[in-house]
Amino acid sequence: MKAKILAISSALAAGAAAQQTVWGQCGGIGWTGASSCVAGAACTSYNAYYFQCIPGATTAGTTTRTTTPVTTTTSSRTTTTSSRTTTTSSRTTTPVTTTSRTTTPVTTTSRTTTTSSRTTTTSSRTTTAGGSCPSNFVSTSGKEFRLNGNKFYFAGSNAYYIPMYGPNDFGDIDAALDAFAGSGLKVLRTWGFADFAGPQDDYVTVFQNWSTVPPVILETQERGLPRLDYVIKGCETRGIKVILPFVNNWAEYGGIDLYVEKVVGSGGNHGDFYTNTAVKNIYKNYVKTIVNRYKSSAAIMAWELSNEIRCAGPRLGAGSCTPAVTTAWAKEMSEYIKSLDSCHLVAVGDEGFFNIAGNSDYVYNGGPGIDNEALTALASIDFGTFHMYPIPWGKTWDWGNQWIKDHAAQADKLNKPMLFEEYGVTRDSGQRDTYHQQYHDTVFANSIAGDMFWQFGTTVPNWGKSYDDGYSIYPADTYEWTNFVVNWATKMASKN
Ligand SMILES: *[C@@H]1O[C@H](CO)[C@@H](O)[C@H](O)[C@H]1NC(C)=O
Repeated sequence: MKAKILAISSALAAGAAAQQTVWGQCGGIGWTGASSCVAGAACTSYNAYYFQCIPGATTAGTTTRTTTPVTTTTSSRTTTTSSRTTTTSSRTTTPVTTTSRTTTPVTTTSRTTTTSSRTTTTSSRTTTAGGSCPSNFVSTSGKEFRLNGNKFYFAGSNAYYIPMYGPNDFGDIDAALDAFAGSGLKVLRTWGFADFAGPQDDYVTVFQNWSTVPPVILETQERGLPRLDYVIKGCETRGIKVILPFVNNWAEYGGIDLYVEKVVGSGGNHGDFYTNTAVKNIYKNYVKTIVNRYKSSAAIMAWELSNEIRCAGPRLGAGSCTPAVTTAWAKEMSEYIKSLDSCHLVAVGDEGFFNIAGNSDYVYNGGPGIDNEALTALASIDFGTFHMYPIPWGKTWDWGNQWIKDHAAQADKLNKPMLFEEYGVTRDSGQRDTYHQQYHDTVFANSIAGDMFWQFGTTVPNWGKSYDDGYSIYPADTYEWTNFVVNWATKMASKN
């Protein structure tokens, strides 16, 4: 095993000086940037991996989270056999901002009444994989997925890191995919992006080099897309379906802020990503390259516009971005993908935030700039996605059951599949077994088409143990592995 540091974008390093701006990251395991915030904002810890500059976060309601950035909690991680020390949290979800944490829990009654005013047109939805599309491509039928003419309920997982193994490390990719397939999990979500500026060590996977603008896509270099080719091929031979997002909302592996900083410059904001023509054209060019490369592959389950788009990012603010802006962008980009490839499914990869006027809760009132219902209702979007991190979002573990039910209700309403795409219960919460079980029971009893925990843990020959962000489940976690991975995969498949 080799000691490797997984680099992040140089733009992030450049932004690390002095005091962090409002909403920017200010601490957490592996964070090397600014640890203090501009005046009026307090550095607030959501978990060991992510601290954020929250405006006015000095009053009650944040008391348990307002701690100074520390690095002492890294001990458990450094004693693992992991050879890869990531510089940022691998779980790229960041917390919802303060407003939600000082409000009372949402009441579903108010939500149902307010959403009813929205006009949803699900009948116009284009069904993919019909007609001339291969039957071994995943398709949809109402609230369900289909595969080879059968229902396709599944348990899957995230393992963002599999295309990041290198250099010339196909043995590790094979080992990880063997373990994944062997667990009974059917769908893998992994990163289809790796945006970097400047020189990187040769083990760092780079799909798009931002040292120049427009960036250069590494289509043939070993460190570039050939690594992703090997993953897709390996999933094909093992019957694993892949969900591939094209860009990160967060700083890991580049991200939307990097696009904006490189193209728009220092005056740009995160929201420009959704409206600036030059930025959109670069994104489209990347999407076209990836889609054309794999569009004949049955390993692809779905193209995903992003990992967790929001109006604001880790470094840049929202500008004039609203839920209507992100929805218009998703419409444009999903239609563009359909024009390139009409047979694979397309999803947004959003966290599932609602946009209900008058609701006081940040995750229900459009606060992050996302309208899950409007996104899912788009004719060119085949299924809805949602993620769930109750504690970073200022909720309780128990609250998560309602979040799942609220999204199942969207599936019922829109008559499209809803995918529970990222969630987890941290090992050190002491609540892991209780709530994984509850969430699975809630998923099983409601209209949730697929379930993908964050994230699949494995140990491979060269890189060793995959990065443990506290959420990962490894085979060595015997109880969780048996009940929440292997048996759960069997139980979800029993619906088919
Ligand atoms: C990106 O391009 C620059 C300029 O051509 C080059 O110096 C750098 O090594 C490249 N980085 C990678 C990761 O290929």
